[in-house]
Amino acid sequence: MKGILLAGGNGRRLNPLTEITNKHLLPVYDRPMIVYPLQTLVEAGIDEILIVSGKDHAGGFLKLLGSGRDFGCRLWYEIQEEAGGIAQALGLAEKFVDGDNIAVILGDNIFEDSFKKEVAEFNEQQGACVFLKKMKDARRFGVAELKDDKIVNIEEKPQSPKSDLAVTGFYLYDNNVFNIIQNLKPSGRGELEITDVNNYYIKEGLMKANIVEGNWTDAGTFESLYRANRIARNIALEKEGLNAQQILQRDSELLE
Ligand code: DAU
Repeated sequence: MKGILLAGGNGRRLNPLTEITNKHLLPVYDRPMIVYPLQTLVEAGIDEILIVSGKDHAGGFLKLLGSGRDFGCRLWYEIQEEAGGIAQALGLAEKFVDGDNIAVILGDNIFEDSFKKEVAEFNEQQGACVFLKKMKDARRFGVAELKDDKIVNIEEKPQSPKSDLAVTGFYLYDNNVFNIIQNLKPSGRGELEITDVNNYYIKEGLMKANIVEGNWTDAGTFESLYRANRIARNIALEKEGLNAQQILQRDSELLE
């Protein structure tokens, strides 16, 4: 299985932070944002990874991540000339993938969970798999509609969500994903949408959905970037041995 880390796009919702650097190079607690999704892929057992980024600040990714050696993987780099959507960025990975199945992660997604088991199980399978998380503000995301525990549709940023299950930015696909992307039409916002790719698999009866148990956030808005910092700090402090109560205590001490 190969890994694709998508770090293109404009990051406009984080202006002025993204005037002078790329969204995925912004700090999230003790490391640049992109390191988290990279570690999620590596931890899932994927060691050949393509990073797709825009032209601006592409050198920053190279400087930070290099060959991937320090992160336990081998890295390749690809440029998305314009922010034409998540599916367009993914389409650029076809040659690199060379017939394999893929795990895709969005560069602004921070997960607490490990996907080792799901990736191992998917290795030789056909179809696709999405990972859902119950969210209070699901309308900000792709939202899953379920019938009898089966995913029947995904709506991108719906006004009236059919559930509170957001589609997170971690996806597993077979190699047919590249044929599907080639036949996509741009959405109302002029982008090739990953939700259209996922709905194609759903209609073919080839989509599985798993629930994400641990914390998850994207980091594309000021509030979600702040949340990402909180989640990343909690994970780091738990690794240092602090429990939830001690972390809360530290939080209140910060404001004293
Ligand atoms: O975070 C999960 C959500 O991500 C999903 O629930 C949505 O279904 C999905 O469309 C996406 O929504 P966003 O509006 O949050 O996507 P955004 O435009 O912020 O892009 C997320 C990441 O995708 C970004 O950090 C880098 C990558 N990307 C995005 C675009 C538009 C690219 O690599 N190239 C692009 O052209």
